[in-house]
Amino acid sequence: MSAINHKIELAARPVGLPKPTDWSFKEEAIREPGEGELQVRIIYISLDPAMRGWMNDRRSYIPPVAIGEVMRALALGRVISSRNPNYAAGDYVYGALGVQEYAVVKGAGLRKVDPAGAPLPVHLSALGMPGLTAYFGLLDIGRPQPGETVAVSGAAGAVGGLVGQIAKIKGCRVVGIAGGAEKCAYLKEIGFDAAIDYKSGSIYRALQQECPKGVDVYFDNVGGETLEAALSLLARNARIVICGAISQYNSTIPPKGPANYLSLLVNHGTMTGFVVGDYVSRWGEGLRDMAAWLAEGKLKSREHIVDGLEKFPDTLLMLFSGANHGKLILKVGEA
Ligand SMILES: NC(=O)c1ccc[n+]([C@@H]2O[C@H](COP(=O)([O-])OP(=O)(O)OC[C@H]3O[C@@H](n4cnc5c(N)ncnc54)[C@H](OP(=O)(O)O)[C@@H]3O)[C@@H](O)[C@H]2O)c1
Repeated sequence: MSAINHKIELAARPVGLPKPTDWSFKEEAIREPGEGELQVRIIYISLDPAMRGWMNDRRSYIPPVAIGEVMRALALGRVISSRNPNYAAGDYVYGALGVQEYAVVKGAGLRKVDPAGAPLPVHLSALGMPGLTAYFGLLDIGRPQPGETVAVSGAAGAVGGLVGQIAKIKGCRVVGIAGGAEKCAYLKEIGFDAAIDYKSGSIYRALQQECPKGVDVYFDNVGGETLEAALSLLARNARIVICGAISQYNSTIPPKGPANYLSLLVNHGTMTGFVVGDYVSRWGEGLRDMAAWLAEGKLKSREHIVDGLEKFPDTLLMLFSGANHGKLILKVGEA
């Protein structure tokens, strides 16, 4: 008798924050891999703010998840059986395996992971998509120079925490913006020069105080009011990296553009959006540097792991309330 897969499908397109009725829990017998396919037991599922965007029926950098389709998610698992010559039983793989316990996939887009290189959760964090986002977004788009001031929002999160630490490695003054005293204390612990609690006062005034020479690079994860404050404080030739805008993802009205965008003109600045997938051909380069910095103790990866597939709907919401401390991961199987 074949084992049973438990999976979570998108049942309805959310309006605002996703609700329990937007999901449906299903079970099915696991099918054997066909020619060229592999069967994977999923261990860790990556919960990412982007998942909220994939639930909307709107043009984006990737097609939306269809109603009745397994929710798309990056995940890490172990190959159980393979009819694909590139993978063998026992291999650990990372890629778009979905919110479920087992996946049968062709293997395109999967990456093999070396469990000896780092603990498995780190491969979803500093050595996974968030790490590569921080690396290429900051270094390729932000282009920080030693002595410059780098400000980052969502700073205690998966991407933001790494952005700040990479900026320190590159010799910058780093100012993080995060919600709450605990997160700000953590930022100081991992080497940020200053941490601003955006929930406890004016972001603009705090940023102005911490960036007396202006902001050379602003790495934006949240959009909204924080982006507007950073725009008002740009140094000449500043670069704004548009990585994300989580403050807008559950909004039921279209996002309001920053009223002060002409600050880009006045300060000869640029504001550039990017998607980490654009850098697939250079991922090896990013992973090599990130792994070396982790090994040298220059970089810390922080994961927040919640146990149980059935916790998925509530756990996803932690990203939007700020309840996650580091890369949010759902554990659904044993390593
Ligand atoms: N462009 C790309 O290729 C790419 C790739 C990966 C991620 N991203 C983007 O990067 C950003 C960070 O992702 P992540 O995976 O690192 O998530 P994360 O920062 O680990 O988690 C999300 C954090 O966002 C903050 N947040 C939630 N609602 C907010 C609001 N209304 N205003 C301000 N902050 C809010 C919360 O922190 P606080 O407690 O500090 O509020 C929360 O912990 C997201 O915008 C995501 O879409 C982009």
